Amino acid sequence: MNDIKIGLVGLGTVGSSVLKMVTENQDKVQNITGRQLSVKTVVVRNVKKHQDAVSSDIQLTTDLNAIINDPEIKIVVEVMGGVHPAKEVITQLLNAKKHVVTANKDLIASAGEELAALARQNHCDLMYEASVAGGIPILRTIVTSFAADHITEVKGIVNGTTNYILTQMQRQNWSYDQSLQKAQELGFAESDPTNDVEGIDAAYKMIILTQFSYGTHIKLEDMAVEGISTIQLEDVAQADAFGYTIKLLGVSRRIDGGVFAEVGPVLVPKDHPLATINNENNAVMVTGEAVGETLFYGPGAGGLPTANSVLSDIVSVTKNIALGTTGNSFNNFRDELGKVDPAQ
Ligand code: HSE
Repeated sequence: MNDIKIGLVGLGTVGSSVLKMVTENQDKVQNITGRQLSVKTVVVRNVKKHQDAVSSDIQLTTDLNAIINDPEIKIVVEVMGGVHPAKEVITQLLNAKKHVVTANKDLIASAGEELAALARQNHCDLMYEASVAGGIPILRTIVTSFAADHITEVKGIVNGTTNYILTQMQRQNWSYDQSLQKAQELGFAESDPTNDVEGIDAAYKMIILTQFSYGTHIKLEDMAVEGISTIQLEDVAQADAFGYTIKLLGVSRRIDGGVFAEVGPVLVPKDHPLATINNENNAVMVTGEAVGETLFYGPGAGGLPTANSVLSDIVSVTKNIALGTTGNSFNNFRDELGKVDPAQ
């Protein structure tokens, strides 16, 4: 019984890349985990649309029950996005004792604690490394490498679409609309890019980073959030002339026993490390009392980088299954941290 079958819910940019990476890296994963992984069933909204993208040994269906009722499927990857029906889907999966890996920041930011509790109750793993900063392994890094430190601030560029748009406006003189269209064609933007350009996607990621950094749950309403949809080419050119680059930054900081968090466009001096982060890349600066300032950089959006983070979670869950130590979510660790109230 060395095989572990995977179910996949969603086959967009990230889902297709997860399928490709699981298929192409079977030997490597088997060497690490001692288990052979393969995708058995993929749930999509429209079977016809995806038929050519999936090999004939994989079941393609619109019916989630094909996964829920299949005892062979132990791990399910949710990459459909959005809060609903993803929340209901993950709830059903956890109640059916499936381990869940998701890239869904909207859902984890709004209902992560509830789903983590449900996962624990069902002795299942719930992992979501891909929900923040795409290919940068930032959540696992905070959980492991900052375990003994006291994080005082986390800030950075956590939305690839807006960073891509701002980069093209500055470097290519492309209009905002043209840059957004290209970001959509490249698969960086959400299917409805409103959350990207209005700063909400970045805010969700800052909510998750805040939870990881301080053990504090903040809500979108607790934050000041502004996007980049009103930024014109002239603004970018003027900032450039004065030695600045406009970046959409997320900031979360401990202040006086509370937490302050916001997202908005900021004039960053060109010699600051964050000013050098271009295209769809992201960068997260984590400051700890012991370690000081650290910077993590990498692709923040796109199929394969995000799929790589999903695969790191799949490997982690597979190891837990092999060792009989499931029932984990990143939130378990967070629960151990001292709680800090959001600033008033
Ligand atoms: N739309 C998101 C972004 C995808 O542009 O950052 C990765 O979360």
